[in-house]
Amino acid sequence: MPQQSLKNFVNDLERAGLLVRIKEEKRVDQLSKIMDSYPDKAVYVEKVKDCEFSFLANAYSNYDQYCLALGCSKQEVGRKAAELSRGRIKPEIVTTAPCKDVILKGDDVDLTRFPLFLHHDRDGNAFIQDLCFISADPDTGVQDWGIYRSMYRSKNEMNIDMTCETHRCRINAMKNHHTGKNTPVSIVVGGPTIDKLALIASVPNDTNDWEVLGSFYGAPAKMVKSETNDLLVPANAEIVLEGEIITSEGWIHDEGPYGEASGMYGGGLKHNCRVVISCMTFVRNGIYQHATIGGREAGKTDMASARPCLESDICASLKNAGIDVLEVRCEGVVGEVAYAKIRTHAGGDAKQALGVMLTCSRQGVPKTAMVFDDDVDIWNDSEIQKAWAFRFMPAHDTLIIPDCNGIGIDPSTGRDEPPYKTSKLGLDCTIPIGPGWRRDNFDWALAADLGDPQANVTAMSEDEIAKDMETFITEQPRAWKEIIAHYLGQPYPFVYRAFGRLRPRLGRADDHPWYRYTFSGHEFAVEAAPDAKIHCAPHHPRA
Ligand SMILES: Cc1cc2nc3c(=O)[nH]c(=O)nc-3n(C[C@H](O)[C@H](O)[C@H](O)COP(=O)(O)O)c2cc1C
Repeated sequence: MPQQSLKNFVNDLERAGLLVRIKEEKRVDQLSKIMDSYPDKAVYVEKVKDCEFSFLANAYSNYDQYCLALGCSKQEVGRKAAELSRGRIKPEIVTTAPCKDVILKGDDVDLTRFPLFLHHDRDGNAFIQDLCFISADPDTGVQDWGIYRSMYRSKNEMNIDMTCETHRCRINAMKNHHTGKNTPVSIVVGGPTIDKLALIASVPNDTNDWEVLGSFYGAPAKMVKSETNDLLVPANAEIVLEGEIITSEGWIHDEGPYGEASGMYGGGLKHNCRVVISCMTFVRNGIYQHATIGGREAGKTDMASARPCLESDICASLKNAGIDVLEVRCEGVVGEVAYAKIRTHAGGDAKQALGVMLTCSRQGVPKTAMVFDDDVDIWNDSEIQKAWAFRFMPAHDTLIIPDCNGIGIDPSTGRDEPPYKTSKLGLDCTIPIGPGWRRDNFDWALAADLGDPQANVTAMSEDEIAKDMETFITEQPRAWKEIIAHYLGQPYPFVYRAFGRLRPRLGRADDHPWYRYTFSGHEFAVEAAPDAKIHCAPHHPRA
């Protein structure tokens, strides 16, 4: 997917049937309900009362949108994103970009130009929340971007929700805090899905994120310099804010609460940093994008974009660990539950896979991981449940890892501030490997399909079938399916009655899984003939 303007992105989503366009003017206080009404689509409101920007939301909230961005099927998303996040293509610097249409500095900076509104009942204020914060590592200068929500404070000031200890912007900000400095930032508001997937992709801390963006585009990302600092911003940015996170003061300002991705209010009232904006640049009459997070359908919000990225982390890490991984599916809101389909080769593959899945991502998820064999469709909940019910034995297939990194939005951590620690659960739903288990017992019992009888089958009488069947089984032991297939096209009562005549002389071989019929004189062909006086199976207690 090439680098795209937000306008072209909106048009593409609409053409693909993934966006609802609302032409009538809406008030800001109507926006929350409008987003809630279309959980399966992006929403684009052309005109917002008292606001110069149109409004876009929920534009990276589901797999149809991710598949469109990555040009692949749902099943391929994890592997494709893993492949792209490993690639590096150097960016190209351009001299100007459409976001320089309007440049406002100093007192002209005014965040109330954006459509500000109360999103969830108990939010502490309006949140500007599709903010891609660009910062640099103060030691190396390497630039990074990540999405962070910001609570409005005043016309040139907001907070940043920067409590997650593994995120790079926080790591950069912490370094500046320790040397008493502020953190210069440029902040892109909104962006096409492909940009978001590239941005959330987990990469090593010393990675230049613009090279990863190029990999997702398959071409150099065009970048333009900020007005007031040395940070680069993607040239397709619609709106850019420039300023500083006041890290010299530290995490001392009230922020939140906020309706969270959990669909609940995890996180409470936090201590966070203040951000002062000194410049804003934007496309005239441009598009303001807002991220959906909580609400009635928490699993269908823009937070869901963490799921393909987590699938990518898990795919890549399992591969690195030598696990033959075929597919990964992350569910829940931000991927709290992860499923992997693997081909086991060594006895410990499944448990090792669980260890990797639970700990490989910097995103603090998944909290629960489940691993399945390659005959399970991990996109089919009913197949997942069957494997969970009958291939998983709680006493020896459960893995619990205490005290891993968790996420602040999870109210069950019992904490509103870092450190967020969580225990993690792994369930091995693969077929056990070892002497106690027969692989065949775990095969799916599928409906028999013998096909159609051959044309011009010569009709046989019951006598003829019985005689022929005797020869057929004498040649070699036969499974019932072989027998019934052999006489396909003959009247079935003849076949069953002919078989019934032979039955007293037939026993069953111990050749699982078919247990074929053979002439043996007694029923369990490989066992000694039963003692006529004792009528119970050898392993049942005698009366
Ligand atoms: C819609 C959306 C909102 C997010 N909001 C926040 C946030 O407020 N604070 C935060 O720490 N992470 C947030 N995240 C997660 C980070 O953006 C994500 O982990 C990213 O990889 C961090 O990037 P970085 O480590 O390069 O800074 C959000 C993700 C999404 C998709």
